[in-house]
Amino acid sequence: MQILDGKALSIKIKNQIKEEVSRKKDSGASIPHLCAILVGNDPASETYVRNKIKSCEEIGFKSSLFRYESSISEAELLHQIDVINNDPDIHGLLVQLPLPKHIDVSKVVEKIDYRKDVDGFHPMNIGRMAKNLPCALPATPYGILKILEEYNIETKGKNCVVVGRSQIVGSPISILMSRPAYPGNATVTVCHSHTIDLASYTRKADIIIAAVGIPQLIKADMVKEGAVIIDVGMNRIDDASKKSGFRLVGDVDFNEVKDKCSYITPVPGGVGPMTIACLLLNTLQATN
Ligand code: GUN
Repeated sequence: MQILDGKALSIKIKNQIKEEVSRKKDSGASIPHLCAILVGNDPASETYVRNKIKSCEEIGFKSSLFRYESSISEAELLHQIDVINNDPDIHGLLVQLPLPKHIDVSKVVEKIDYRKDVDGFHPMNIGRMAKNLPCALPATPYGILKILEEYNIETKGKNCVVVGRSQIVGSPISILMSRPAYPGNATVTVCHSHTIDLASYTRKADIIIAAVGIPQLIKADMVKEGAVIIDVGMNRIDDASKKSGFRLVGDVDFNEVKDKCSYITPVPGGVGPMTIACLLLNTLQATN
């Protein structure tokens, strides 16, 4: 079994971006500026946003964080997005999800100028992705493609089972893995909460992409010998031995599956760091 080291790859990509930013500075070109909006104080969202801002600082991007109480009205949030859309000094804008229940996520995502949508969630970007046209790809699926590419993993003609159909990961990665390109050209099956006998699908998979948010759902007896495992899960489970009181586990039972598969992304250190690296790539692209 070989570990797919997303952490190392993310550092390599961030160093490449850092060099590009330094060239931009020397030539007097615009420095990429990412703006994040965080509503409320969900602890996981706080961590994600903090890491995104920290990464911007590391590579020389400008960054701004706009924080709002969870009581902000939908109209006010939409107005703030409009202000940022019209600010020529800001190249990329993300609104951290989830949002409070009284705010319509679709309205928020559609309000973002699709040229600044570095999350790749806007229907314009999703539509262009489905049509295989240049666009900002959703950052986590983009990160998965980069990992497959880095390790030269064959995808053509393979059975790829995606577990989960979220707008952020499952749905877009299923489109990307079946597109006529590398990585892609796979035969993709999307499994979800209504799938009957999940194991009968995962056992036939050459590639499993688990993005369902259920801790350690995928066990060894659900995996074919030699399969490639991409674990997108980032689940907090109680662990009294940790100072924080929790630890992160994936959607795959790593200890059970590691000896059966050919490649596997660890949690943490697999897909997670690649999401940020690809968000930064999208921001760089939005600046050019
Ligand atoms: N919440 C969980 N993942 C993401 C992401 O990739 N982008 C945003 N904006 N929110 C998220």
